[in-house]
Amino acid sequence: MSFSLSHPVNTALLLYILYLLQRIIVPSTSIPRTPPTEFKAGYSWMPRTHAPSLLYTTYTPRTLAKFSGLDGGRILLAIAGTVFDVTAGRGFYGPDGMYGNFAGRDASRGMAKQSFDSEMLTPIDQPLDKLGDLTPEEIENMKGWIEHFTNKYVVCGQLVENDAGEL
Ligand code: HEM
Repeated sequence: MSFSLSHPVNTALLLYILYLLQRIIVPSTSIPRTPPTEFKAGYSWMPRTHAPSLLYTTYTPRTLAKFSGLDGGRILLAIAGTVFDVTAGRGFYGPDGMYGNFAGRDASRGMAKQSFDSEMLTPIDQPLDKLGDLTPEEIENMKGWIEHFTNKYVVCGQLVENDAGEL
């Protein structure tokens, strides 16, 4: 039995095989002209909203204080010079939260000494707390909190002196 292109079935088969080969060699990407913006029970090309992005930057005690969450916005706090975005923990750090006193502040001393006392917080117009008087146990305690915060929240900056930008 010989293969003859004069037979219409053979011709159709050959064309189909060529078409399949072309699909394999040049796969169709089928990118929509305008990406859909809605999720319609299946794969979507774009998420509904952009993933939140954070800029790592420097904060001073004064600029950090603006992120106390009192306005319903972001909540930041610092421990040993590292600034964490704790907005996701609004229940803890929001105005009604148990740890709301640390919002927008350098929480190092309070974390180290496990205390909410107001004297744990350095006034925002004063130089940074150098923490030189902490005991080894208190420093370890503070490091434990740093580990907790690093694992749970986003590190978003560094705390520097109020006058650092004026040097
Ligand atoms: C009456 C004493 C206290 C009780 C009953 C208490 C209770 C709690 C509870 C239930 C949590 C949540 C744990 C979790 O789900 O991961 C928590 C977390 C926490 N506690 Fe306390 N706490 C007390 C004292 C303190 C003190 C004195 C401090 C001062 C530094 C403190 C700082 C924190 C912090 C920073 C967190 C972590 C919150 C977070 O994950 O963002 N706690 N506490």
